[in-house]
Amino acid sequence: MRSNRLSHLFGISSFGESHGPAIGLLIDSPPPNLDFPSDELHAALMRRGYQGDFSTSRTEADQLEILSGVFEGKTTGMPLCVIVRNCDAKSEDYEALKDVFRPGHADYSWFQKFQIYDYRGGGRASGRESLARVIAADLSQNLLKDIKIEIICKQIGELKASPTATIAEHNPFHWPDPANYRALLKTLEDIKSRGDSLGGILQVTASNIPPGLGDPIYEKLSANIAKAMFSIGTVRGILFGDGLNLASWPGSQVNDRFAAGKLASNHHGGIVGGVSNGQDIVFDLVIRPISSISIPQETMDKAGKPCQISIKGRHDVCHIPRLIPVVEAMLQICLADAIQYQRLISGDDADLTGLRESLDKIDEELLTLLYRRRAIVHEVKRYKEQNHLPPKDPAREKEILDKAAQIAREIKLPEEQVQDIIKLTLRISDT
Ligand SMILES: Cc1cc2nc3c(=O)[nH]c(=O)nc-3n(C[C@H](O)[C@H](O)[C@H](O)COP(=O)(O)O)c2cc1C
Repeated sequence: MRSNRLSHLFGISSFGESHGPAIGLLIDSPPPNLDFPSDELHAALMRRGYQGDFSTSRTEADQLEILSGVFEGKTTGMPLCVIVRNCDAKSEDYEALKDVFRPGHADYSWFQKFQIYDYRGGGRASGRESLARVIAADLSQNLLKDIKIEIICKQIGELKASPTATIAEHNPFHWPDPANYRALLKTLEDIKSRGDSLGGILQVTASNIPPGLGDPIYEKLSANIAKAMFSIGTVRGILFGDGLNLASWPGSQVNDRFAAGKLASNHHGGIVGGVSNGQDIVFDLVIRPISSISIPQETMDKAGKPCQISIKGRHDVCHIPRLIPVVEAMLQICLADAIQYQRLISGDDADLTGLRESLDKIDEELLTLLYRRRAIVHEVKRYKEQNHLPPKDPAREKEILDKAAQIAREIKLPEEQVQDIIKLTLRISDT
């Protein structure tokens, strides 16, 4: 499956592992004439690579190496390939963990799936992969126009910022509450001295959002944002608008009313029915503590033998400063995708590249569906074999074709050709 595709926009995919030669990004059809890399990108990379008392001591300059697609500082519209070399990987730190599953890491589940995994620094599951996301977001900037994204950290461990503190202070954690910032640093010192780690809650606000972004039902903006956020390691929850309160407050309290020709409140975080309503998009992210801790933990090796580990590699105590630019980047990419789509409906600035992007996305979805259909047909075949049922069922095939013809009539597509496609689909699914 295409799980390394970052977004449908421009066909962005990423590659690379934590201790491989490089992390990289390939963009199939970037828009031409964009400044690349921008000054904002350098700033975002610096923030992602943040070095502080509570972050990993792995130091990387994160220098971009552009292999193709940029000429005289601008994208040419040709495939853009960028890599960032891994210069400070110390794979020997991980030698002792070679055959041991680290609790909380992707090791065990990935091993179950692939029967092989790169144990060095988490391989592709490493936070280092997030570099690709930050670079990719740079190319979506011109679509975002005036959209502004603000992220504050409301909670780390059990320590909460005051609910009235809503503006990120100039500290790496975006902690908004100067009154207990020292208490935060003390909490982190304690956790560090115990060899443990902490997560927290981020509050994300995107303002100047045009109404109409997102598509109903299966391409809801809220669903796509949630997917983008959950694709980031350690994100464990997302709550839009009033979040958990929406479960306990009555409808009369949470319906966003209209006054003076506009919405007068924002209980639902700017997205209703999967489509943005022009209010700020607001959501909280629940972040788990990172898994690498030096406290000894019970685990097992690949043979299932119980053992103990204490993780010695370099890792964060609290990775929130590094996470913030990644969250920002994924939201930018997600909003840019939605903006690109909305242009198709509104007819605003529809251009050939944008239209082709959308067609490519539809074709890709068709093929993915075909792949899934074939996988299910194989399951059906297996089931029939095990239960001694005949492999072919002409009545069922007729039912499928009749249904397709009926839908074709309803949505005014040529009935016979649709039936031909379905027949072909049945044949491909059977291969
Ligand atoms: C920016 C960033 C930095 C991270 N740093 C670390 C780290 O230093 N140590 C660690 O164990 N996990 C770190 N992680 C988390 C792991 O990548 C992630 O938890 C792990 O692969 C398991 O995936 P999951 O959290 O999605 O289940 C980081 C994640 C991000 C996004």
